[in-house]
Amino acid sequence: MSPERPMLVAGNWKMNTSLDEALVLAAGVGNLTVSGIETAICPPFPWLVPVARAGREHGWQIVVGAQDCSAHGNGAYTGETSAAMLQPWCGMALAGHSERRRYHHESDALIGEKVRSIAGAGMIPVLCIGETQEERDADQTETVLERQLGGAFRAAQGADLNKLVVAYEPVWAIGTGQAATVQDAAAATAFIRGWLRQHATSLVGTTRILYGGSVTPDNAAGLFAQPDVDGALVGGASLKAADFNRIREAAAALATREIS
Ligand code: PGA
Repeated sequence: MSPERPMLVAGNWKMNTSLDEALVLAAGVGNLTVSGIETAICPPFPWLVPVARAGREHGWQIVVGAQDCSAHGNGAYTGETSAAMLQPWCGMALAGHSERRRYHHESDALIGEKVRSIAGAGMIPVLCIGETQEERDADQTETVLERQLGGAFRAAQGADLNKLVVAYEPVWAIGTGQAATVQDAAAATAFIRGWLRQHATSLVGTTRILYGGSVTPDNAAGLFAQPDVDGALVGGASLKAADFNRIREAAAALATREIS
């Protein structure tokens, strides 16, 4: 296994769980240690502190992550949460999830600034990219990925991105039960790796590329077997500890790959 790029399985709980459910779910994940990979869970904002505290108390080997992060340091930004506020509790934060792009009209430049803020606070930035069904139908997948990567990297210029994670999440596969085929996931993640090789050469070996979109215990192993898939960002299946843990186990079984 490459110590530089361990497999990462991250759960995005979205706007789900009560506080009690969150603590039970976190315990169901945290109480099972899966070695050889990294595990992260992204609970809703108000549960970050109680979940992180429980994790410390019980010695869980999991990273607590936020589902979003402000691009700004501080000031008059009602409702926003800065990287410095997250950092005491979180080791990771998502930027540019397709639901934020869609419902909150986040631009590639804003998302890149979020990546910069997250990285600046020493957390793992997870840059989410992916094409819609219409873009896929129009054969625009690579153009879209290129635009999203280019826009975010331009805005994040100068930031130390040595912890960067890129999550390839085709919008048409998110929450639909229709995951990308292993061939599609392999092609898109290889494209992303190629883009990094060309435009961010120093990051190509360390950047983990995740697949996200209807990952389940049944399809995880096939996706993880693709050379440029370094793990998964899991939505629905991360809300059941047993399913999420099976996905972690599938990653651990494949965690012996060398750097490509
Ligand atoms: P899903 O969500 O696994 O429910 O498709 C993935 C995501 O949105 O990160």
